[in-house]
Amino acid sequence: MSVHSAPAENTPATRPAMTLPRLREAASRGEKLTMLTAYDATFARVLDDAGVEILLVGDSLGNVIQGETSTLPVTVEQMAYHTRAVAQGKRGAFLVTDMPFGSYESSPELAFASAAALMRAGAQMVKLEGGGYTADTVRFLVERGIPVCAHLGLTPQRVHAIGGYRVQGRDEAAAQVLIADATALAEAGAAMLVLELVPSTLARRITEQLPQLMTIGIGAGAGTTGQVLVLHDMLGLTSGKRPRFVRDFTRLPGSAADAPGLGIAQAVAAYVAAVKDGSFPDETVHGY
Ligand code: KIV
Repeated sequence: MSVHSAPAENTPATRPAMTLPRLREAASRGEKLTMLTAYDATFARVLDDAGVEILLVGDSLGNVIQGETSTLPVTVEQMAYHTRAVAQGKRGAFLVTDMPFGSYESSPELAFASAAALMRAGAQMVKLEGGGYTADTVRFLVERGIPVCAHLGLTPQRVHAIGGYRVQGRDEAAAQVLIADATALAEAGAAMLVLELVPSTLARRITEQLPQLMTIGIGAGAGTTGQVLVLHDMLGLTSGKRPRFVRDFTRLPGSAADAPGLGIAQAVAAYVAAVKDGSFPDETVHGY
């Protein structure tokens, strides 16, 4: 090895492929896990090369790729198409795909058929939104070899029922419901749990009480096992007002608005570094 080459474990070609046991090992060493959304092969490669461990083909593609105002119009076929693209571009990152609205809620059998289509396209885990009422479906999938990531807090597929994109679990009664939901999902076999827009103290409680779940926060403070952001948000491409929990990683902290920004690969590497060293999220700035 030349003195100028990177250590073997840090090069994309030699980094071992991420698996659920490897993610669990990293989490149990106290390492923060990094997840970003990806929707195509090129970004999948860039994110993977920058060290992102988990790629999420999020149904946020309805918003950021298709220009819809919610995730509701997204279909299983579209999720499978983007999953295939990401699977072709990625190297060793672990690939999670969202189950879109209407593809799992009505029965475990429907959920299995939808999840199987996504796994055939290259997903290694599926993610589904919703509380304890989805526990039977989670158990059905896990028993049949499909790893599941649950999603609690702000669940965008319920935006019309909730009445907007707002913080969930603020008072103690609502927090108790979320803790009961997370417990039911963990007992059903979910391995991972996205916590979106919940108070930092609640996300920390759930993470500590349910060590069998790898919690991945978005707008949930620094106490979760890992962090996720929508790629377009962390690259500063969000249209309209940027949500409080997002940091634009193309901007160096404290830099002038007209200062040149970082390139995409550098910005993603800065995200990975900031999650790993605990400087993102800063609860005083990005937390609730
Ligand atoms: O669809 C998505 O991108 C997501 C993340 C916000 C976690 O579910």
